Amino acid sequence: MTTRIDIFYASHDGHTLKIARFIEKILTGAFDGKVTLHSAKSPDLEAERIGQDSFTVVIAPIRYGYPLREAEAFLRANKTRIAPERLAMLLVCLTARKPNRQSVETNGYLRKWLARHGLTPKIAASIAGKLDYPRYRPFDRFMIRLIMRMSRGPTDPTTQIEYTDWAQVEALSQEIARLAQGELTPA
Ligand SMILES: Cc1cc2nc3c(=O)[nH]c(=O)nc-3n(C[C@H](O)[C@H](O)[C@H](O)COP(=O)(O)O)c2cc1C
Repeated sequence: MTTRIDIFYASHDGHTLKIARFIEKILTGAFDGKVTLHSAKSPDLEAERIGQDSFTVVIAPIRYGYPLREAEAFLRANKTRIAPERLAMLLVCLTARKPNRQSVETNGYLRKWLARHGLTPKIAASIAGKLDYPRYRPFDRFMIRLIMRMSRGPTDPTTQIEYTDWAQVEALSQEIARLAQGELTPA
């Protein structure tokens, strides 16, 4: 039975945390059990409880082609505790600003993420992140502008755009709540 939903997030610049907090808010309203947000780096939950009687959400951003290191460490350490039918893996990146780059079939980062961990989560999606040139160090700004030029995105170094489709995030959250709630309520 699922009595909790645990959301484990990793975030470098804060935008994935913002998305994780939004998911937490929607789930809290839609799910009868306990919903908790944890840092993937230092989850305030004993390892033995991870994945036990719970639905697990892992959300992480891509940096230079790879999900943030702490999310990878979290998955390596805990993936065997989590049943795939009670797992959602959400990847935040700029590639997903294009609506046809948000699924396992169409997002290479997402596909490689699942393959690398040998995981087949019930829900897997890519969510568009935030572009924030003024915030980046000069090297990162240079690199992201290069990536943006190649993918026909904005290259003006003053650009700050939140590409996140909040309706998509809400729909994913509702789907997670529905799956977890289904297991909470006896048939
Ligand atoms: C240094 C850096 C490298 C990034 N590399 C990629 C990338 O390879 N592919 C991509 O689609 N997005 C890339 N992004 C975009 C981030 O995934 C996006 O900005 C996300 O919202 C960051 O989340 P955070 O604020 O939680 O760290 C990169 C961003 C930065 C700052």
